[in-house]
Amino acid sequence: MNTLVKQDLPILVVEDDIDTAKILCSILDSEGYKTEFVDSGLEGMQKICETEKYCAAFLDLMMPGVSGYDVLKVARSNSNFSMLPIIVVTARDLTEDKVQALEMGANDFVVKPFVVSELMARLRNALRERDIYLELSRKNRELDALAKIKDHFMSMAAHDLRAPLTNIMGFAELLRDGLVRNNMAEQDKAIKIIINNCHHIMEMLHKFMDVNLIDRGELGLNFTPCQLGAVLKTAYDSFLPQARQKDIFLDLTETWQEAPQLVCDHERIICVLENLLSNAVKFCHPGDAVQVGWEQAGDSVIVFVRDTGPGISREEIGHVFKRFPRISVRPTGGEKSVGLGLSLAKEIVEMHEGHAYVRSEQGKGSEFGFSLPLKSSGKRRHENAGDTAARAGILPEIAEKLLQQKK
Ligand SMILES: Nc1ncnc2c1ncn2[C@@H]1O[C@H](COP(=O)(O)OP(=O)(O)OP(=O)(O)O)[C@@H](O)[C@H]1O
Ligand SMILES: [Mg+2]
Repeated sequence: MNTLVKQDLPILVVEDDIDTAKILCSILDSEGYKTEFVDSGLEGMQKICETEKYCAAFLDLMMPGVSGYDVLKVARSNSNFSMLPIIVVTARDLTEDKVQALEMGANDFVVKPFVVSELMARLRNALRERDIYLELSRKNRELDALAKIKDHFMSMAAHDLRAPLTNIMGFAELLRDGLVRNNMAEQDKAIKIIINNCHHIMEMLHKFMDVNLIDRGELGLNFTPCQLGAVLKTAYDSFLPQARQKDIFLDLTETWQEAPQLVCDHERIICVLENLLSNAVKFCHPGDAVQVGWEQAGDSVIVFVRDTGPGISREEIGHVFKRFPRISVRPTGGEKSVGLGLSLAKEIVEMHEGHAYVRSEQGKGSEFGFSLPLKSSGKRRHENAGDTAARAGILPEIAEKLLQQKK
């Protein structure tokens, strides 16, 4: 069974007997492998340390001066070199030679004169082991990186929860201790602050839960036909009072009723648009203007929110769609800011096969928007096995089977 992809890297042959080396190299060459040959243990020792340059090594045990055993000892003394498969070559079919070499970390052995089919089978096995080792190392590195992202997320989440909780505790204690007993206005204020902070915590928790669902590939979308105009109007209506309160001019494009019909999860798309609108209102100053609208672009429709607010600097603009981007633009009316809205919006738009974008100029304003296909392919209408698989590193066909079992 030869299921291995041919290796791009050469095989190192360390052999002091030129004839044997030639035979070995020509067998390997005829099987499609590249080879590199050195004729002494000393050179072999230097080469074998350049482990990333080779996919495997054939190593003669009996060489004058630096022997194959010496080379093995060095190769296996450093964990960096240990992944290179080493097959020892021995002229004597002696059990103690083979045992000693295996004990010292050789992956396998071949005995001269070579039996080609056996030699190739042993090489393929060694390469297969190396592939598994490399794949495991890659997965480990990915897991480490994911664990770091999770740790970062947890510490940011814990940090951001502390402020509203401290407010709630402070004002609840004020009420408990009767410090504002005779002042109704102060009591009302304290209760309002407590309620506002509770809302903020609730909003944070919803966002954390959405992030978690997205990371696990479990955010289900409910695709149905919907009028984009209705989505625009709903989001606009819900921010009109806030905009008026801050003296910000909020405008819905005149053509909103002519916007096309789409197939999307309209509740999620309203949330996306609401985040763009909430940002515009949150980061703009009194007197600024915000416009929400749409336009058609080929097979897609673009929804945009333009504002005349503070804009974002060139240095920071590349971070806006990241989680907790910590951009220097701050809310202008004491509003809350979790730092997850745009990253969630981007993920949800992409789950609709759309694209989120930003254009902004510091001091002049910003345009945030997203495109959605007019004809959704429906590829991501349901939790799809391929995505979950990709995130979890499971083979798609196995994931598909698991999903079938769940149904
Ligand atoms: N219209 C805008 N004008 C200027 N800066 C903006 C605008 N929209 C977003 N930003 C900047 O990008 C950052 C990220 O936005 P995002 O919506 O992800 O987080 P947030 O609004 O701070 O918190 P959340 O939406 O989770 O409550 C904001 O904190 C802000 O600094
Ligand atoms: Mg936001």
